[in-house]
Amino acid sequence: LSPTDVTERPFRAVVFGASGGIGRELVLAVAKRYSHGSIFAGMRKLEGAWPDNVTPFSFDLEAEPSIAKASDSIGSGGQLDLVMVATGVLKSDGTFEPEKSWRAIDPSAMAKVFALNTIGPALIGKHFLPLLARDRRSVFAALSARVSSISDNRLGGWHSYRASKTALNMIVRNFALELATRNNAAIAVSLHPGTVDTELSKPFQGNVGKGKLFSPAYSAMCLLDVVDALTSAESGKMFAWDGKEIGF
Ligand SMILES: NC(=O)c1ccc[n+]([C@@H]2O[C@H](COP(=O)([O-])OP(=O)(O)OC[C@H]3O[C@@H](n4cnc5c(N)ncnc54)[C@H](OP(=O)(O)O)[C@@H]3O)[C@@H](O)[C@H]2O)c1
Repeated sequence: LSPTDVTERPFRAVVFGASGGIGRELVLAVAKRYSHGSIFAGMRKLEGAWPDNVTPFSFDLEAEPSIAKASDSIGSGGQLDLVMVATGVLKSDGTFEPEKSWRAIDPSAMAKVFALNTIGPALIGKHFLPLLARDRRSVFAALSARVSSISDNRLGGWHSYRASKTALNMIVRNFALELATRNNAAIAVSLHPGTVDTELSKPFQGNVGKGKLFSPAYSAMCLLDVVDALTSAESGKMFAWDGKEIGF
């Protein structure tokens, strides 16, 4: 994704979760950085005003045909340089909260969190990894979370969210290995955006230290810098907003 590449051929990117705090800013950041490119912004309900080089489309993580349809339509225009998945769920108002104890584990809430945080992104991979360019560097990046790291877990709690993102990391690692067999310049990574001021984090911002709560625009800019600097040797790993690897 070097500036030279951008002038030589149209850059094509897809961002899923464009209605979300970080997702919206990722779309805007990619659209600005690759101003001659085509950016496809996926969301559940079409909304928002977008720059001229952004084409919104609708999809639902829980409806595979909607993801397949988007893949057919976007794929008919050519190969992709970048696919970013910025969807995710931590709580659902009036339905479930992140668990503070094993006592709070509820099978239907846990199934929902896995459906959205693990299975949905896996289905996006199923339908969009085949569209990644095969003859040049291309990137699949899914937003995970530092709390998915088993080795870093010293606090406990949040069983469904943590485990769903740990499982997502495994899927992304598998994607990286499979991608390498068709293009050794293709990259798949998990990303931690930092603690970001969005709807998702709002109820949990109380203990965040001064200067540690990022604006969605800042996080998106940092994440795009990380994505643009990735090498194929880093495929299959998880990186934070500052480019530092987070061990699984
Ligand atoms: N904010 C943080 O501090 C933080 C920290 C670590 C990791 N993350 C991760 O970063 C990612 C983005 O989070 P955020 O903070 O930007 O959250 P957010 O503002 O709540 O955005 C979540 C996005 O997921 C979408 N989504 C939920 N269910 C969906 C479905 N069934 N189909 C399609 N889209 C669906 C939402 O769409 P609707 O608008 O239609 O609901 C929204 O676009 C998540 O993976 C999150 O786990 C965030």
